[in-house]
Order: sequence, then structure tokens, then C-alpha cells
Amino acid sequence: MASGSGSNFEALVEACRGNQLPAEVALLAVNNPDCGAQQRAERLNVPWCLHDHRRFSSREALDRALVESFQSAGVDLVVMAGWMRIVTAELIEAFPDRLLNIHPSLLPSFRGARAVEQALAAGVTLTGCSAHLVRLEVDSGPILVQAAVPIASDDTRESLSARIHRQEHRILPLAVQLAAQRLGLLGPAQG
Ligand code: GAR
Repeated sequence: MASGSGSNFEALVEACRGNQLPAEVALLAVNNPDCGAQQRAERLNVPWCLHDHRRFSSREALDRALVESFQSAGVDLVVMAGWMRIVTAELIEAFPDRLLNIHPSLLPSFRGARAVEQALAAGVTLTGCSAHLVRLEVDSGPILVQAAVPIASDDTRESLSARIHRQEHRILPLAVQLAAQRLGLLGPAQG
């Protein structure tokens, strides 16, 4: 699931194709027509579907459409790879412990939107990214993998965001692997 540029989506596809992750990205769902993620899916030959949130009467209705798409595609795990919509029990309960999110902070710090800006405004010298299982409360849920990213005094939103993205691309495939192992979808968990 992606709403924007889709670099995390591409990192997952590359990890699968490069044999770092024994999995396949079966389907990309986007909510913004012609977003970067959709363009990446076309270039990478990954099937994609559009569920434009503006066309649904509620968050639940959007999530029910997503669930239908994922169930038709027969997916085992769902990854919110830059999904900028709040999700509901419709989606979370359809994929118990199988719905992952990537967030650009060291949770539980800086939940919600604009986490990179929040970290800069707070004046902290260390932030990072977190991959976690999704629960109803936004940006909560058991942490799978985190990476720390130091903040330099001259960092801007762009420079810091770029360094966080590099770490996200590294930890998101690791988190998918860990979640899959815990569910018994792969071999035994490695600790
Ligand atoms: C990522 O930094 C991800 O952590 C963030 O959106 C970005 C998407 O980048 N997600 C959130 O802020 C969710 N609250 P991408 O489209 O290049 O993968």
C-alpha cells in the first residue's frame, strides 16, 4: 500500500527479486491516481490497483475495498509502505498480525503526520524509522525493526528525510521477513 513516491515499495520489490527476501510483491494498492508508487509498479511490472479514498464514503468502505483486492490476490502479508491514510478495524482484523507499517521516527516518539518535521522542531539529535505491526491506535503496535539516524545541526527536512529513507529501505524487508517467520510463513525465526 502506498500513497506517494513509493521508494519503500520499490525497495521491497528489489529485496524479493534480489533474493534477500523469499517473497513476491503480488499487488500494489495506491490511493492517489498516478502517484510515484503507481509509476514504479508499471516500470517494475508489478500489478497495481487504485482505490481513490475520495471516492469512498468512509474510511471503513475504503478499507473493505482494499481487503477485497488483497484477498483476491491471495496475499499473506500487507505492508503500508508510505500509506498516508488512517486505517480501520476492517483492514486490521482481516490481516491479524499480517499488516505492517513503516514510520519515519523512532516510535513511540513523533507519531502521526510529519514525523520528520516533528523531530527537527523538537531539537532531538537522534531520530530514525520503525517498522511495526499495525494496531487501531495510529503508529502504535509491536515494533519489528528500528534503525537510528543522527540529526546534524544543518539538517533540513529534505536531507534528514533522505537519510531516514535509506534506513527504511534496509529495515522494511527485514521486518517483512521477521513477521513472516513469526507467522510460520517462512523457516523458523532467527531470534
Ligand atoms: C516514508 O518515509 C514512510 O515512513 C512515511 O512516508 C514515506 C513514504 O516514502 N510514512 C508515514 O509517514 C506514515 N505515517 P516512499 O513513498 O518513498 O516510500
